Formats: sequence, structure tokens, C-alpha cells
Amino acid sequence: MRVAMIGTGYVGLVSGTCFSEFGHTVVCVDKNPDRIGALQRGEIPIFEPGLDDLVMRNVKAGRLSFTQDIKAAVQGAEAVFIAVGTPSRRGDGEADLSYVYAAAKEIAEAMSHFTLVVTKSTVPVGTGREVERIIRQTRPDADFEVASNPEFLREGAAIEDFMRPDRVVCGVESDRAREILRNLYRPLYLNETPILFTALETAELIKYAANAFLAMKITFINEIADLCEKVNVNVQDVSRGIGLDGRIGSKFLHAGPGYGGSCFPKDTQALVATGRKFSSPLQIIETVVAINDTRKRRMAEKIIAASGGSVRGKTVAVLGLTFKPGTDDMRDSPSLDIIPALQKAGAVVRAYDPEGMHEAKKLLNEVVWCQDGYEAAEGADVLAILTEWNQFRAMDLARLKELLKQPVMVDLRNIYKPAEMEQAGFTYYSVGRPPVMPAGVSA
Ligand SMILES: NC(=O)c1ccc[n+]([C@@H]2O[C@H](COP(=O)([O-])OP(=O)(O)OC[C@H]3O[C@@H](n4cnc5c(N)ncnc54)[C@H](O)[C@@H]3O)[C@@H](O)[C@H]2O)c1
Repeated sequence: MRVAMIGTGYVGLVSGTCFSEFGHTVVCVDKNPDRIGALQRGEIPIFEPGLDDLVMRNVKAGRLSFTQDIKAAVQGAEAVFIAVGTPSRRGDGEADLSYVYAAAKEIAEAMSHFTLVVTKSTVPVGTGREVERIIRQTRPDADFEVASNPEFLREGAAIEDFMRPDRVVCGVESDRAREILRNLYRPLYLNETPILFTALETAELIKYAANAFLAMKITFINEIADLCEKVNVNVQDVSRGIGLDGRIGSKFLHAGPGYGGSCFPKDTQALVATGRKFSSPLQIIETVVAINDTRKRRMAEKIIAASGGSVRGKTVAVLGLTFKPGTDDMRDSPSLDIIPALQKAGAVVRAYDPEGMHEAKKLLNEVVWCQDGYEAAEGADVLAILTEWNQFRAMDLARLKELLKQPVMVDLRNIYKPAEMEQAGFTYYSVGRPPVMPAGVSA
């Protein structure tokens, strides 16, 4: 099949590339000339493991190409996917749908034959209908249909998630749309991946309900972790004890600094806004949003407390800036709350991230940027791990201890074992686990 993918970000680029790997001919479109220029030169503008090889292979095979020319891409396609951003709108937390609606209008203007317009962006209930209305209004003569196909991939594991998803959700209105989507996902269909065909609105809501549930699960274990710290219990034991219950499941039960990233924060807020709009408040998600916001700020306080109650004039080494490992995405990362709070409290921050520094430099000021974790630790009073990149999991503790002014670590991802840190002579704080003090020091 011939596909046009509008928007070549984390979702559009991965989805478009994977569709071409399935054997379809895909043209990826973006408004951003730098992005398209880079892709045309064979450079991948985002960090996503395995994506470069997959892009190269499919470009070489003639199935994947990149352009700014939306008209040509749409005219050559049977299915056109909208994969543009839907960020939070300032002020009310609703999804900003201006990019989606602009794309719908541009698609309408370009259409020349029957086209299935599929929303892959995460959009609130009712957006598909509005996309339909915009296209109809722009081109009353157009032969088209609208479908919804929300994306569930995770950055850092995006290709695997797209190629082997738990399920594919398709909101469709007709057999024709159903057939097109079934053909597009044929390799998965043959693999017996569950493919759910639903109404348009149902597909739109499934995506928000899924993200809100996952954000709630993270927030739940984070609050349990706080209680664990008060009652001297290890939250990891609690996670295991509850996660083995099949009704609960072990995933998303890792306590940490609060969820971040390009999806959970904005999608929870947008769902809350949708609930209010339809006079059906989602109080549980409202609470999740509030808890998570407070939590990120409280993590800075935790680091300050570990530094003896004040960081004024002190140096904090920060390891990890992205919201999770395996991505360069800095959107709504907890580091963006934690680092400014530390600086406001008078700290000098030395930071390192394996992939996120390029983006981080645009978003954070007055940070001393370092080449690796050890350089960040040099002369610091406390070291904080914010993201669980593999290279931070097995650092040379003796070397770190030498480099730090004080052997104090705040591990917000629980990647070290308390006993190991005790043995290495560190004062060690983690999340939801009793702190470790060297002999003679009390908590
Ligand atoms: N990032 C994720 O992990 C993830 C996962 C699932 C779903 N989603 C959803 O997918 C959507 C896209 O997210 P993303 O992270 O890929 O966004 P992104 O910001 O990385 O990419 C969006 C791209 O769309 C381009 N664009 C905007 N308007 C355009 C237009 N009219 N024509 C052509 N290009 C246009 C932008 O230049 C940008 O490159 C969002 O709705 C998001 O919620 C994201």
C-alpha cells in the first residue's frame, strides 16, 4: 500500500519506517526543513535505538522517502496518517489541536482520489469528527473517510513496540476503512496480534484511558514508596509482592521521581479537561496530576535534605536528564523541575546525560555540562541519579567516592543496592527504601 505520514517526530518517523519495513511504500512529510533535510542526508534527527538501520534499509529499498511536499505525498497515498504533536494548551491543559487541524486542512487541499485519513496523534474524543468536518468544509467534493489509530509505542523501545505490539486499536466507520487498516497491519494480523476495531470515539478514548491508568499506577507506587520510607519497608519488596498478583501485574510499579515525558503529563491533563468538558469529572486522574506535580518538586527537597539541609554554595552532580533512558526526549522530564529548584536553593549543578544534553542545553541554564558521570562527580557534595541509563548502573564506586567531596548519593531510580552502597562507604538515599549511613552517622 502507499502511505503518507504527516509529522516525522518520534511517532511519525518510527511508524512510517515500520510500515515501510512491512513492505508498504511510505512518504514521511514534515514542515520542519531541518528535520527533512537531515533525513534526506541519511541523518536521524532523534535518538531511538535501532531506528537508523531500519531507516537506511528501507530508503535503500526504495520504500521510504522524506519530503516537505505534503501535496505530492497525499496525492500518491491511499492512507494518510496524521502524526503531528498534540501538546498541552497553556492555561487549561487541554490538548492543543491546532497542528492536527492544520494538517487536516492541508491534506484536504491535496486530495485527488479516495483517501483514508487516519489520526495517529493522541487526540481527545470528538477530534476525528472535527477532522472530518474540516476536510468536508475545505473540499466539499473530496472522497475520503476518517479513522483513528492511536499509537502505544514507548520511546526507547519504539521499534519493538511497533513491530510486536500488545494490540492495535483502529477506530473505523466502514468496511472499506477496516480493510485498508487490516492490510496496513497485515504482518501483525498474521502474527495474531489482537487488532481491535472500534468506533472512532472509542479508539480515541482508549488511548487516554491507557495512559491515565499507567500514570496512576506509577503514582500509586510512588505514594506507597513515601509510606515505605516512614515505616522502614523496602518498596521493591512491596512491588514484587503485589506485582505477582496477575490482577495487578509487575510493570509500572517502579517508584521514582514522578512520571514525565512527552505523553503522560499532557495526556492526563487533557483527559481531566475532557472529563470537565462533559461534566464527568475524573477525580482520580486530577489527583494523580496534582501528586505528580508536587512530587517532582519534592525530589529537589530530598536532594537538599541529603546535603545536610542546604545546598547553598554546594555542588550537586546530576546523572541523567531525559525522562527515561533510551531517548533524547526532554519534554516534561523531572530534571526540568529538579535542577532549577536546586539552583534556586543556591546549588551549582554539574550534569551529564548520554543522549539528552543537546536538548537539555536549550532548556536549562547555568549548568556545568560534563562529558561523563565521573566528570560530573568531580568536587560535588552530593550525586543524584535522575535517569536509569545503563552506564550509570555499574559505576566504579571507589572512583566516584574519590571524586566526590562527600560520598553522598541520592538514587531516584533505585539502581544500586543499599548493601552495596553501605559497603562502598556511601551515605545513600533512594526511593521507598531505608537510607544507608556509614557507621557512626545517624539518618
Ligand atoms: N512520543 C511518544 O512516545 C508518543 C507515543 C504515543 C503517541 N504519541 C502521540 O503522537 C503524536 C506525535 O508525537 P511525537 O512525540 O511524535 O511529536 P513530535 O513533536 O516529536 O513530532 C511532531 C512532528 O510533526 C511535525 N508537524 C507539525 N505540524 C505539521 C504539519 N502540518 N505538516 C507536517 N509536519 C507537521 C513537527 O514539525 C514535528 O516534527 C502526539 O499526539 C503524541 O501524543 C507520542
